Formats: sequence, structure tokens, C-alpha cells
Amino acid sequence: MNLQVIILAAGKGTRMRSSLPKVLHEIANTPLIEHVICTAKSLNPKKIIGVFGHGGDAVPRQMSKHDVCWVEQAEQLGTGHAVKQGMKEIDNDAMVLVLYGDVPLTTTETLSSLLSVASHSDTSIGLLTARLHNPTGYGRVVRNGTGIVQRIVEQKDASDTEKKINEVNTGILVAPAKELKTWLSGLSNKNAQGEYYLTDIFEMAAQCGFTVQTITSNALWEVEGVNNKRQLASLERQHQRLIADRLMEQGVTLMDPARIDVRGALTVGNDCLIDINSLFIGDVSLGDGVQVGANSIIKNSKIGAGVRISPNSIIENATIGDDCEIGPFARIRPDTVLANKVKVGNFVEIKKSNIDTGSKISHLSYVGDTKMGANVNVGAGTITCNYDGVNKSLTEIGDNVFIGSDTQLIAPVKIGNGATIGAGSTISKNAPSAELTLSRPKQLTIKGWQRPAKKIK
Ligand code: UD1
Ligand code: CA
Repeated sequence: MNLQVIILAAGKGTRMRSSLPKVLHEIANTPLIEHVICTAKSLNPKKIIGVFGHGGDAVPRQMSKHDVCWVEQAEQLGTGHAVKQGMKEIDNDAMVLVLYGDVPLTTTETLSSLLSVASHSDTSIGLLTARLHNPTGYGRVVRNGTGIVQRIVEQKDASDTEKKINEVNTGILVAPAKELKTWLSGLSNKNAQGEYYLTDIFEMAAQCGFTVQTITSNALWEVEGVNNKRQLASLERQHQRLIADRLMEQGVTLMDPARIDVRGALTVGNDCLIDINSLFIGDVSLGDGVQVGANSIIKNSKIGAGVRISPNSIIENATIGDDCEIGPFARIRPDTVLANKVKVGNFVEIKKSNIDTGSKISHLSYVGDTKMGANVNVGAGTITCNYDGVNKSLTEIGDNVFIGSDTQLIAPVKIGNGATIGAGSTISKNAPSAELTLSRPKQLTIKGWQRPAKKIK
């Protein structure tokens, strides 16, 4: 099948009360329209045509990484008029699927079924419908006595009996290009809203001997559009719930599937456990047996097998080796690579550093622009002074080094293999291998010194 998709995205979205075009509002950090483009792509169409209008070329510009042909609908004269603009780019032998930039969660499966019923015969068209308890506002699907679709009537044009129909038009349809072009050119705007209704093609199709094949979605979220921030939030929750379900199907233990947010692609190994309020952004992969503590944020990072991340840790653009222990309250910043079995404890910040196997930075430290060997023990309160106000400099620490607590390492500086640094040192020159280096004023005791006392009034 020569499938070609038209995505309507010209509407203003007044009820969003925003200067941003509606379809650029986001679900899971991804613009609504991008969800639709990705779903369209999953059907392997020959072409995707986007119809934009309100907000100028902001939508095409933001979607420039996708292979979509954009057509402007300068004035929004109705859905039929919008599709007609898109048809200029559609080939005559195509099957056309119409999608909406503000209906983000339609699934590939549902659209595939719609495409398959629509290709039932040469005189079939496909329509995705839904049954609603409260159909107010939607176009109603009018069927004849034998259940064949006759036409769609808009809320504002419907009679009282028609208003009682609870099967509604989702707007999503499939039709052969040649006939669709003919039907669209026959549309008129003599109706309650003075618009060119796309929905009027169904009556024309029926009159031309076409049969409307319908698929009825029983998941309302699949066909729901976003018109305001409440609907945006509700579809965000729905989307997150679907991701949570998928993760659980892959064997992840979620302490609460309602309290995980994935804004990107999260891949998981076996036996992972994710505690509440965890947030995953961008491309994140978790190896086998990873445990993610409550309130953790992980962005664009690879987490090795067996890693334990304790609560309130933040990891960004980092690679964490196997069996590392992170947190609680750890912050691992971009360009950090931890080898296996590294420990980064509470209130430790690591930036742009390589830490080799088995090294431990357990408490209250800042390690930045550092290359650290294996089996190093960094004492509490150690700071790499990597910045002189202008330049960033490197700290190099060998294997098996022991750094006493409350040490400042003033970069650039090198600590040799097996060196020991005495607690409380300020190290501004390289420290040799296998020796104790410390910088510490001699300890004094002032005999008979008295602490000042408060005067009693
Ligand atoms: C439309 C359908 C209605 C259906 C409902 C489902 C028509 C006439 N009615 O009504 O049967 O139940 O959707 O939500 O089709 N758009 C443009 N250019 C335009 C007009 C609209 O791009 O000139 C886009 C909008 O941005 C939006 C979509 O088309 O994404 C639907 O338009 P909207 O005005 O919301 O249609 P409804 O009145 O809701
Ligand atoms: Ca609408």
C-alpha cells in the first residue's frame, strides 16, 4: 500500500492560553505533534504531510529533524479545507491517513487495524470512531437500519435524535487519494459553523457507493485531543501509566506505577527495582538488577548491572560501571565515568571525572576534572580545587591512594600511586608515590588561655 499521512496542526489552541502553538506543548518532554509524527512513521508511509497555520513556521522549524513536508493553511477555514491543503502534496495512487497534531496517543496497532479495514475493497474507506457516555461536542456517526454509516453530523448541526447517538467521529480516517480529492473539492461551508467540514466526505462517499468501514477504539485516551492544560496533564498521566505497564511487563518492579516518570527512552535489564518518584530523562539504560532509590533523577546515562542508587540522587550524562553504589544525595554531573564497584556516597558531587575500579568517595566531597585510579579512598570533605576563576585544571590521582579527610587538592596536581595524604592538607604540589604527604601547621596549646565569658548584668 502506498500510504501517505496528513497531520493537521493549523489550529490555534486558544484554550491553552499560551503563546506556544498548541501542538508544541509537550507530553513526556516531547511536543504533541512529535508523538503523532513518530506514530505515523511507525506505519512506514511514503510521505508525511504536515498542515501548519497558527504560530507561523514555529512548528515546521521545531520538527525539522523529521522528514515531513509542510504545507501552510493560512486561514483556518475548517478541517476539510485543511486536508485539502495537504492533498496538494499527495500522490493520486496513495491511501491517505488523516491524523491530528493534538491527538498524541493513538497507537500503531489501532491505526494498522484501521488501514487494514480500509483496504477491504477498492470502494472502502476507514473511520476510527469511539463510544462516549457523554458525546457532547463531537460529530456523531449516523448509521442506517442495517448499521451502514451514512454520514457524520456535527454537534451544532445535529437534530435532537442525532444528538442522542453516542458513537462519535474521532476525526481519524483513511481514504483513497483520488476520490478524497474529488470529495474535498465538492465541500461547501453552508453549515452552522460556516466551515468546510472534513466530515461531509462520508455522505459523499456513501453516495458514490463507498462503504465506510469503522474501527471503534475502546481506549478513549487513544483518540482524545488536547485543548487545555487539564487535558494535557491527563494525557501525560495516561502516557506515563502506559510506560509503567510496559516496564512491568519487562519485569521491572515499580514500587508505585503511578509514581514514575519517563521522558525519553528507558531500557532495562532483568530484575530492576524502581522506587517512588523516580524521573528518567532522555536515553537511560539500566543493567540487570539495578535498584533506583526514591526521588532519583537520571538523565542520558548508562547504569551498569547491580548498581544501587540510594534515594535523592541525580545522575546526568554519565556512565556508571557494574556494582557501583551511589547516594543517597549524590550528584553525578556530565562526562563522568565510573568503573565497576565505585562508591559515591552522600553529598558528593562528581563532574567530568574518571574514577577507576573500587575507589570510594563516601562523604561530602567535590571531585571535578579528575582522573582517579583504582582502589582510592577519598576522605570526607575532600575538594578538588579545579577552577582558578579562569581555567579548569586536572587532578590526577594514582591507584591505591589514601586521601585524608578535609583535603584540598589544588589543580593541576598529581598524586602518585600508593600515596597517602594527611587529613586537613592543602596540596598544591605533586605528591610522590608511596609516601605520606601532608601540609599542616604545627599543633599549639596555649597554656592557661581563657575563653571570653559573657558579663552578667
Ligand atoms: C472535529 C470533527 C468532529 C470530531 C472532532 C473530534 C470536523 C468538522 N469535525 O471537530 O466530527 O468529533 O473533531 O475531536 O472535522 N484544524 C486545522 N485547520 C482548520 C480546522 C481545524 O488544522 O481549519 C485542525 C485543528 O488544529 C485540530 C483538528 O483540525 O487539530 C480538529 O479541529 P477542531 O476545530 O478541533 O474540530 P472539532 O470542532 O473538534
Ligand atoms: Ca477538537
